[in-house]
Amino acid sequence: MLDATRAVENADFIARREAGYESRTVAQILKEFCSHTDGCTMSGKKDALVTIGGWLALNDEDRYEKAGNFVVVYEGLHTCGGMADRDMEAMARGIVESLADEHIRARLGQVGYLDHKRMGARAPVVRRIVGHAVYLDARAFEPHLDPGQFPAQSLAADRRVDCGVRAMQRGIVSTGRDRKSGQHHRPALELVRLTIPRRIYTHAHMDLTAESVIDVCARRSDARGLKRVYEPRYLRFLQARFERLSTVASAR
Ligand SMILES: Cc1ncc(COP(=O)(O)O)c(C=O)c1O
Repeated sequence: MLDATRAVENADFIARREAGYESRTVAQILKEFCSHTDGCTMSGKKDALVTIGGWLALNDEDRYEKAGNFVVVYEGLHTCGGMADRDMEAMARGIVESLADEHIRARLGQVGYLDHKRMGARAPVVRRIVGHAVYLDARAFEPHLDPGQFPAQSLAADRRVDCGVRAMQRGIVSTGRDRKSGQHHRPALELVRLTIPRRIYTHAHMDLTAESVIDVCARRSDARGLKRVYEPRYLRFLQARFERLSTVASAR
């Protein structure tokens, strides 16, 4: 079973990185990739260019029958899984358009533009291995902060204040706490993810984003980190609230 959510972007990486695939289209590579699977799930909200929906595909009639029956119980009719016709139509169109080589190259080109051309050596950017985002290394950015001062969350907040562009921390806040000890898990990476929606922004938006990262980077020694003021029981990265620390003191 394939999680095909980002399969189109990955097919383009294959075209650019794997010997023998240079002259193949994204659609041809994707077809070969899928031929090795028995089916897939796909969240339409990424490569398929829509804001809602997804689908399940199976090459086995019996499993298809069973899955279709489950869908009727939990989601809606087996033909639409609870999705509105309009949304299904948009996703069908999105699937076709997402396979256009020009589209996918423009998409990945825009992410690459933010990464290499704009920030490159001027901020600690993680070497890019994904198609949808550029990651900042918060530890390299703010080496004076302890993990308990939530460096990635702090960097994401500083950038939000600086230019209004929202970014997502992926670090100690996301990994949560050890159930038994209640202590924070301390992940190896403390990152900020600049995820770029498809077909929404121009290079001017990338320029603004990059300039803000470089400005925040220039002031990084002023960063004092954050303290947690509210933490929900589950998935704290979605609802937790923080305040700026006024001095460099580790939060708990
Ligand atoms: C590879 C992959 N699969 C599945 C999902 C889940 O998508 P959804 O939030 O639409 O369920 C995501 C979300 O980012 C994803 O990146």
